[in-house]
Amino acid sequence: MAAHADLVRSQGKTLVFVPTMGFLHEGHISLMEIGLAHGNHLVVSIFVNPAQFGPTEDLDAYPRDMERDLALCKKAGAAAVYTPDASSMYGPGFETRVIQESLPNHLCGLSRPRLFSGVTTVVTKLFNTVKPHVAVFGEKDFQQLAVLKRMTLDLDFDIKIVSGPTVREQDGLAKSSRNSYLSATQRKNATALYQCLEETGKKVAKGQLDTQGLLQEAKEKIAAVPEAAIDYINIVDPNSLVDVARVEKPALMAMAVFVGKTRLIDNMMLYPPG
Ligand code: PAF
Repeated sequence: MAAHADLVRSQGKTLVFVPTMGFLHEGHISLMEIGLAHGNHLVVSIFVNPAQFGPTEDLDAYPRDMERDLALCKKAGAAAVYTPDASSMYGPGFETRVIQESLPNHLCGLSRPRLFSGVTTVVTKLFNTVKPHVAVFGEKDFQQLAVLKRMTLDLDFDIKIVSGPTVREQDGLAKSSRNSYLSATQRKNATALYQCLEETGKKVAKGQLDTQGLLQEAKEKIAAVPEAAIDYINIVDPNSLVDVARVEKPALMAMAVFVGKTRLIDNMMLYPPG
């Protein structure tokens, strides 16, 4: 991969990179399309990264379909797909992790303590091997995007980070590889996450700005959904990810909810009137 990247760069091309964990869906494809608007040589990686899963999480169950993924990458215009295996990514004696001070100590980082150091570590390694000019990440993983933008600045990667909006099913459910775990009933019930974000967005636009009340109403709505268990629902400053008391300026509402055993995340910006 590194030799391929050197060759592409020596030809004066702009290398754009979409890192993924595979089981690709329209969300990933839209990131590839956005990537191709920023460069002319698209590289996709497919790697289910063990370093970002906790011991009780779904690493082994994580859905995989390499053949279908490769066909989708080709169709989307990828020039190369990088598919390292875990033993080459983390060889014998591997012991380094890239750790951030505060952005991981919010939202998903609280219930998944190894997630963001696993992500920053693998993305550092991917950046060093794929050597992209531009890298594209989805806004559905808003905290991941914030963490990786900060890391790129802090560690002096000469890479432009571009983000792509969340792609949704017709009923609003955010596309996710993990949606494949849901039964038909759970799948229907899972639309409550989006509905809840939408409803809160409307309340804020009408001038209900106190986050305590907004969050209480949101939690009541989600708690009423069969098989749903709230991991977190917060309204935060989109830069620091710290909770805000009032939505005086645009704020991010973010949530993680278990529907059955499946942990789903979603988020939306809230805009106060004017
Ligand atoms: O968003 C993902 O799919 C993963 O967290 C990433 C960025 C590919 C790192 O493993």
